[in-house]
Amino acid sequence: MGLVVTIDGPAGAGKSTAARELASRLGWSVLDTGAMYRVVTLAALEAGLDMTDSEALGALAGSIQVRLDGNLVWLGDRDVCKLIREPEITRASRYAANAPEVRKVLLGWQRKASENQNLVTEGRDQGTIVFPDALVKFYLDATDLERAERRYRELIQKGHEIHLEQVLEDQQERDARDSAREIAPMRPSDDGVRIESTGKSLEEVLNEMLGHIRKSLLERGLSETFHTF
Ligand code: C5P
Repeated sequence: MGLVVTIDGPAGAGKSTAARELASRLGWSVLDTGAMYRVVTLAALEAGLDMTDSEALGALAGSIQVRLDGNLVWLGDRDVCKLIREPEITRASRYAANAPEVRKVLLGWQRKASENQNLVTEGRDQGTIVFPDALVKFYLDATDLERAERRYRELIQKGHEIHLEQVLEDQQERDARDSAREIAPMRPSDDGVRIESTGKSLEEVLNEMLGHIRKSLLERGLSETFHTF
């Protein structure tokens, strides 16, 4: 198994950008586990499944071919990276996220991804459930308003007609659901590192993360990895 760094936290805290940049500086691979839940959601909606039938969702997850490569996401041989970011998929993703059968299949995909490579992985349960022995487990957070404003700017840029209040409302609903669900709730790991990104530049967040990673590599006698970043 390769080395793993996890980044969990709520939507809009800057996890994806931080994970991509961190992976690129370390020379490691990156995994966006939210994209996995989104692909399963897309496939389920397209198949016309009853979204509350968690067994059917799990069976579907076990039968589809999903490939992730950096920003690119394929369902079978179809590039779905834009489609899975549609607000409709974001809203419906809670069914896949709440289904234990889906979480089990995706946990398998996620652990497999770390088998032959070093990995920066981001999501909600990466440090708490999927990689409890990760090198460093970050929990990246920001204020509600800052996160909503980021997401709002992204959606406007993509041409969506939406109000900030709506984004904030959707986000609060999703945060509450993510934190309250019985299975794999979103929470910081007890032995993880919490980083508040409000008011910080990406560079500041990355430097903080790299500091913790260097320290952890040193403690584990893996300091030879330093020369790569
Ligand atoms: O991070 P993103 O918004 O792409 O996540 C999509 C959906 O997948 C969300 O509903 C989130 O709760 C869920 N998710 C999850 N566990 C993860 C990653 C995402 O439940 N590790």
